[in-house]
Amino acid sequence: MRARIVATGSAVPKRVLRNADLERMVATSDEWIVERTGIRERRVVDAGVASSDLGTEAARAALAAGGWDAADLDLLLVATCTPDMPLPSTACLIQRNLKASRAIAFDLAAACSGFLYGLSVADLYVRSGTCRKALVVGTEVMSSVVDWTDRGTCILFGDGAGAVLIEPSDEDRGILSTHLHSDGDLWDLVCVPGGGSRLPASAAMLADRQQFVKMKGNETFKVAVRTLEATAREALEANKLGVDDVDLFIPHQANVRIVNAVMERLGLKKDRVMLNIDRYGNTSAASIPLALDEAVRAGRVAPGSRILMVAFGSGLTWASAVVKW
Ligand code: COA
Repeated sequence: MRARIVATGSAVPKRVLRNADLERMVATSDEWIVERTGIRERRVVDAGVASSDLGTEAARAALAAGGWDAADLDLLLVATCTPDMPLPSTACLIQRNLKASRAIAFDLAAACSGFLYGLSVADLYVRSGTCRKALVVGTEVMSSVVDWTDRGTCILFGDGAGAVLIEPSDEDRGILSTHLHSDGDLWDLVCVPGGGSRLPASAAMLADRQQFVKMKGNETFKVAVRTLEATAREALEANKLGVDDVDLFIPHQANVRIVNAVMERLGLKKDRVMLNIDRYGNTSAASIPLALDEAVRAGRVAPGSRILMVAFGSGLTWASAVVKW
């Protein structure tokens, strides 16, 4: 038995932050950002809007697309590194909004790889027969952890959410494989040092701006290319597929140069990639489900399409999934 994705949904805030807006905030330029990252604009929430709000909207869109009732959900997984609050979980807050009272609800932390980690866990729950109707949400308000005075990071991130519904399938399609990897030795490539138990909230912590993302951009770039290529090859080999068998490649949208480098190394054709980083930037755990939902709505996915998804993120974590639509 396989698990298959039944429907997708997504949500982004209305407010657009263009590169020209960032030019007024830090010493940067539209030209530099576009050339080095491929990002032209990103979405940011208005004050008071949290990850559960975007996640709920994305989940509702997926439920509507699949014709499902939230009351029938038995698993609600949320991947996020920007939860509404340390506790309770964002999954429980989304459960409350949806009135998905039967669902097991919990969060999962794997940063930008979070959605593929969630997909893998949901796949196992569904294939084991423990759950029949699963919802996986990737949702982020990255603007809440971005240091708007740091030009090395603030240009990269955006807010958004994506969601998928998963159920068992007897057919020869669905989630064909997932592969997950972690390497805690590289924990400090991308991190938010403050606000947890190591460095709890305090006036000194805030004054030192430790509540914001710190990143070794250059090193992260190299590790990203290496791990994405490796996990894509691992996924193809596990399914006995060649690169030409991939109908759609959905990479984590972190930097268009990272994606191009990976595609070049793999020999993947340019017309097979799904990119929306120009409009949304890096939305962390939301990036892949947001891109998948766009691809579905744009008609780039048909029954039988083989989709290869790859991600990397803080942790370090990296992951892949192959789906036959
Ligand atoms: N605008 C203008 N100049 C900038 C800039 C900005 N927004 N950010 C950095 N620079 C400057 C640097 O200060 C540096 O100047 P110097 O040469 O005078 O010291 C120069 O540009 C080159 O910096 P560098 O960090 O080497 O640039 P880069 O080509 O590596 O691009 C990133 C920087 C962050 C875009 C790139 O490293 C990257 O995308 N890394 C991966 C990050 C990522 O994916 N993180 C998320 C993990 S999920």
